[in-house]
Amino acid sequence: MIVLLGASGYVGRTFATELRRRGHSFIPLTRRAFDYTRFDFLFDYLRTMRPVFLVNAAGYAGNWSGRVTEQEREKMLAANAFLPQMIARVCMMTKTPWGHISSGSIYSGAKVQRLGAVVVEKHLGRPELLNLFESHPDSFHGFTEADEPNFSFRAMPCNFHSGTRALAEEAIRDVGQSYVWRLRLPFNEREEPGNWLSRVRREHQVYDCINSFSHLDDCVKACLDLWEIRAPFGIYNVTNPGAMTTRHAVEDLQRVLSSAPQVLPAEDQDPPNEPQSHCILDSSKLLKAGVKLRPLADAFEDCLGRLHRTSRAAKSFDPVSRRPAPALV
Ligand SMILES: NC(=O)c1ccc[n+]([C@@H]2O[C@H](COP(=O)([O-])OP(=O)(O)OC[C@H]3O[C@@H](n4cnc5c(N)ncnc54)[C@H](OP(=O)(O)O)[C@@H]3O)[C@@H](O)[C@H]2O)c1
Repeated sequence: MIVLLGASGYVGRTFATELRRRGHSFIPLTRRAFDYTRFDFLFDYLRTMRPVFLVNAAGYAGNWSGRVTEQEREKMLAANAFLPQMIARVCMMTKTPWGHISSGSIYSGAKVQRLGAVVVEKHLGRPELLNLFESHPDSFHGFTEADEPNFSFRAMPCNFHSGTRALAEEAIRDVGQSYVWRLRLPFNEREEPGNWLSRVRREHQVYDCINSFSHLDDCVKACLDLWEIRAPFGIYNVTNPGAMTTRHAVEDLQRVLSSAPQVLPAEDQDPPNEPQSHCILDSSKLLKAGVKLRPLADAFEDCLGRLHRTSRAAKSFDPVSRRPAPALV
């Protein structure tokens, strides 16, 4: 039996769907039903139930608007740093292998090859980098699992959320048997606050940049594959190979949904309340471990195709009769 924490969230529900599809028996835990954030509760639970694996998909990202209140900081610290640290201790004491959902937002930038040298560029919204990416995307290399986070409380500036995510990785490292799965801007066709596409669709304006992305369903499968093939424990960047500019993503979205925000150059942006992370991750460790992930371009195209079909079906739905409306001719 597998225990799933944070089962009511965007990522947690995707894990639940995939575990069910694979025929694994699992117990989805939510804080409302069982307060797994308490050491004594979780310890007794794991000691009694003896799960073969635990997935931690719990966390707190704030309200996505960029403004972080003191109260939200406390929640972030508790959910993103203290909770994983506590889970790591409980799992070590009960000898439970586990996987933790982390985030690529502990990095900023990418390694860029220019004039025969490779340098870390931290601000991927700069026009000359966007131009270089358009003409030579192969010049951009992502951070690997061996690179220390460069957007954390130890490598300021960072935002508070990223700082807490990096703290968690430090606390978990070398404690017991754990996977740290780093996602980056997860997306799919489901309308959710945590879905990057849903967030973009709600905006009037977005600023251009370059990023790695995780097709959430692909990435959840990859996380479970790692455990099923008994890949070595440790950190894995779980992003679809490749990277994409915001402009490219939004233009594709516009083509499919005929409505999308305006994309502005990053230099037009007022300084955000907190620094933002935009980065490229290298997922080759995952591929070397034997877990395949579709290239980002294919995953994004597939997702947009599904969104298109869903939006067409919604448009042809007659809300009065609650039956599909006749096809327009
Ligand atoms: N969405 C993203 O853009 C993204 C990107 C990279 C990484 N991640 C990571 O993936 C994990 C899940 O993210 P998500 O998008 O699924 O978030 P979500 O939809 O907000 O779900 C997170 C879940 O965490 C649980 N939780 C535990 N302590 C909490 C607290 N103090 N405050 C609020 N929720 C708490 C809640 O589940 P219960 O109430 O059921 O226990 C909640 O439903 C997080 O660790 C997040 O940092 C997300």
